[in-house]
Amino acid sequence: MALTQQDISREIAERSRAFAEAGQTRHHPARDYAPYRSSLLRHPKHPLVTVRDPEAVELSGPVFGVTDVTDLDADLTRQHAGEPLGERITVTGRVLDREGRPIRGQLAEIWQANASGRYAHQRDQHPAPLDPNFTGVGRCLTDDEGRYRFTTIKPGAYPWRNHTNAWRPAHIHFSLFGDAFTQRLITQMYFPGDPLFAYDPILQSVTDAAARDRLVAAYEHDLSVPEWSLGYRWDIVLDGPAATWLEEGR
Ligand SMILES: [Fe+2]
Repeated sequence: MALTQQDISREIAERSRAFAEAGQTRHHPARDYAPYRSSLLRHPKHPLVTVRDPEAVELSGPVFGVTDVTDLDADLTRQHAGEPLGERITVTGRVLDREGRPIRGQLAEIWQANASGRYAHQRDQHPAPLDPNFTGVGRCLTDDEGRYRFTTIKPGAYPWRNHTNAWRPAHIHFSLFGDAFTQRLITQMYFPGDPLFAYDPILQSVTDAAARDRLVAAYEHDLSVPEWSLGYRWDIVLDGPAATWLEEGR
């Protein structure tokens, strides 16, 4: 029988209650958070392997590529001949350690759906239009203050097949590299006031309400550029009590 939103919302509420009653602190979402169905099937089942020689891992791991990061890479609205459709936004913030110190020179990458909620990817075949002027991929290096900055368009919500009528709130995927590939961290940024938050098992897999709030960017009027774009601020704290929740354990 097809799973309904009601089924999933009931499971979300059960897990939220259990988390509150246990009075725990969790620094990452559970790897097998049942309301997010595919996490049951594809989460690692073996203990994590201790990496004793990070440099040896680098030899067989992915590499950053041969081209330098340029300013153009951080502007997702200028990667094609024309302008993408949608609401132009600026997203900026700082990458910080637990003491609030800036993480400098960090490669920050983003990927996202277009304004209609469609990814430019062959696996995304839902009936929303592709935008020939939008790929949805960007990158930049953090500056001396740990700051990153992207110009892009606000992504749309999109359906997925977790259950009947499942919709993801609008979000931007973020990846951060440390000094080595083994330090890569992945998370998602959300937009304030999205009505889909309560229905989304991926966001709700972060069972701590304060930690969920830290995944939501703030609209900041002073970051908006007159006649051009709306501004959002989102800081990423890599660890400690105010850490941004990440999709993978470390
Ligand atoms: Fe997504």
